[in-house]
Amino acid sequence: MDGSDPADRSAGAASPRLETLFEAGGGRSVELPKRLRDGYGGGLGFATPIVFANLVSTLDGVTAFGDDTPPSVISAKSPADRFVMGLLRACASAVVVGAGTLRPAVKHRWTPDHVFPSLADDFRRLRISLGLTDIPKLVVLTRTGDIRTSAASLEDGALIITTTMGAEHLRGKVPRATAIRTVMSGRIEPVEVVEILRRDGHDTILTEGGPHILGSFLRSGALDELFLTLSPRVAGRSRAVPRLGLVEGMALDPDQILRATLLSVKRHESHVFLRYGFR
Ligand SMILES: NC(=O)c1ccc[n+]([C@@H]2O[C@H](COP(=O)([O-])OP(=O)(O)OC[C@H]3O[C@@H](n4cnc5c(N)ncnc54)[C@H](OP(=O)(O)O)[C@@H]3O)[C@@H](O)[C@H]2O)c1
Repeated sequence: MDGSDPADRSAGAASPRLETLFEAGGGRSVELPKRLRDGYGGGLGFATPIVFANLVSTLDGVTAFGDDTPPSVISAKSPADRFVMGLLRACASAVVVGAGTLRPAVKHRWTPDHVFPSLADDFRRLRISLGLTDIPKLVVLTRTGDIRTSAASLEDGALIITTTMGAEHLRGKVPRATAIRTVMSGRIEPVEVVEILRRDGHDTILTEGGPHILGSFLRSGALDELFLTLSPRVAGRSRAVPRLGLVEGMALDPDQILRATLLSVKRHESHVFLRYGFR
């Protein structure tokens, strides 16, 4: 899941073709426009309501360097990763990110077109067929309210879910199109976030992380599925250079570790695209 800047994007790029290696039967499939179906190597469907995540990691599980290094270093600028990211966004009613993901991505827009502009028409057709609005609603989670309020994505009409302290911090600073919703406790519980979004009519909720948000969604049992791109890179980490893994901020006891079921395996060149279910 490479949230790269516009300069890295695939304007005019042909859609890559993923090869399907395994697909668990029985899932619901939606009618994808031909170029999306050909690119994905088959259909794609969700049993709604659903909360699903999409992230990319190196072979050794690194998802972020924790500094200014662009996400494209993790994904190796894979056009197939951007294609899958665009396709999953196109299926989503809302995209949830944490403050840590928004902070460095001031130019990013969490829309399908932003990561794969040449398929914009196909994404739009898919959204219409799914009864979705033009673009997914961006939802930003922040306890502190310490975000870059000049971020381009907030101009499109995002929803910020925050605490009373965060709301106080953000008062009068966000673009008019963006709304702020306050939770009463000092914590932002994923289950409450999902309830808020369901009440707003969002049945297909995608989270693009980052690793702290993914950890908190997994710990609370709010995540139904994970799309994970394995990028053929090894980044390593050390005590002096810790780096972020797929999941941060939570550690489960050995007898509590979560089990997942493999739903799909696809590949493009040396990248592998995994889909797991947690139910
Ligand atoms: N490889 C990938 O697929 C991928 C995907 C996404 C992001 N990233 C990278 O990950 C890095 C950011 O990582 P991150 O883990 O800091 O990002 P994150 O999970 O998006 O954000 C974490 C922040 O979200 C806020 N937050 C609000 N509610 C929370 C909750 N219930 N649980 C946890 N956090 C909550 C907190 O900020 P407040 O202090 O404001 O409350 C927290 O520090 C960036 O470099 C980004 O590029 C990589």
